[in-house]
Amino acid sequence: MSNFQYQGENLTCENLEIDSITRDLETPFYCYSSKKIRDNINKYKNNLKNSNSKICFALKANSNIELIKIIAQQGLGADVVSMGEFQKALKAGISGKDIVFSGVGKTQKEIEFAIKNHCFQINAESLSEIKKINEIAQNLNIKQNIGIRINPDVKPETHSKITTGSIENKFGIPISEVKNLFNQSNLFENLNFNGLAFHIGSQIMKLEPFEEACKITNQLVKEIENNDFKIKTIDVGGGIGIDDDEEFQFENYFNLIDLYFAKKDRMIIFEPGRTIIGNTALLISKILYIKETEDKIFVVIDAGMNDFMRPALYGAVHDILPILKSSSIEKKTIEIVGPICETSDKFLTSDNFQNVNEGDFIAISNAGAYGSSMSSNYNIRPNIAEVLVNDKKFSIIRKRQSLEDLINQ
Ligand code: LLP
Repeated sequence: MSNFQYQGENLTCENLEIDSITRDLETPFYCYSSKKIRDNINKYKNNLKNSNSKICFALKANSNIELIKIIAQQGLGADVVSMGEFQKALKAGISGKDIVFSGVGKTQKEIEFAIKNHCFQINAESLSEIKKINEIAQNLNIKQNIGIRINPDVKPETHSKITTGSIENKFGIPISEVKNLFNQSNLFENLNFNGLAFHIGSQIMKLEPFEEACKITNQLVKEIENNDFKIKTIDVGGGIGIDDDEEFQFENYFNLIDLYFAKKDRMIIFEPGRTIIGNTALLISKILYIKETEDKIFVVIDAGMNDFMRPALYGAVHDILPILKSSSIEKKTIEIVGPICETSDKFLTSDNFQNVNEGDFIAISNAGAYGSSMSSNYNIRPNIAEVLVNDKKFSIIRKRQSLEDLINQ
């Protein structure tokens, strides 16, 4: 969290005191650091200097157009899963030639849109989808690149709701069927079978599951290439986790990918989401009420599970930091909860939080990925504002939605 530091008692973002933003802007709001986004991207770029690769930001992690514009300016492409995400990527300045279209249920309209907009590669997840893409490409008289999303059947250690590469998950095509698909590829005249794609899950902190997926994929690549096909792209998906206490071994990860897949005339596609945007934002919220019971203190804040869903949905743990630090620690257990009428609307339980008062502000950490993009209007609550800090100044990159908009729908 190097761009979010305490200076004295004040939590800052790129040297700007967050307390000063709360004087101008209604809470809750997301606060992003633009420097942190560029730093995260450079981590990828520096490690991939000498390789033939494409880094495609997974828009599902965050689809604020101003943030995507920054990401596009740094030269990244996009990984999209809907026509909406495709359109946003184009609008932010990413060319179709740098867009990979993933997803298990693309509609006719979406496939048509992708092909017409020169999509670099559509990752297909079933034989039926391959047939559909071929048919649409034929009608449009275009030859379309596709990747075959495989299911390598690995089980990463992460929340069960965010694994995607295990055989009981709906994603990808089982390894045993893939060779046969390549053998039939000449039946699909309007498709280029470009290569293979996998994505085994998200928030993965260990290298081993990635290594297992690489090994399995590499074996498959060899078998396919022995049959005289060329694998021109390997899409290794995203999935790397972030954690304040633990560093993911980035260098080893890139060495691994290089070791298994680097080859002349082959491109490696990366689809990171969380590692680009996750640690670039805090969710700032105000303490509305403090309610003491016999065994704990409920701290009710103005952000709810509709604004940031990860703790309620996955039991994800995100640190909470006071905007103004003090040294006096609350003796009782405190439970920081939101205002939504659901018991799961709970952010954190702590036995050593500092003393807090009604009206104080707090910050939920690592809220940049799957925060605003997964928010909803549940309980008829408007989408909250988003601000971007750049070198001691902040600008509003999404206005808080007006209640009027919501109540008229
Ligand atoms: N590529 C594909 C095909 C994906 O399905 C995903 C994420 C990514 C790339 C990006 O993965 P990342 O690098 O961000 O891990 N809502 C959950 C995460 C779901 C991820 C779904 N797929 C969460 O809040 O943890």
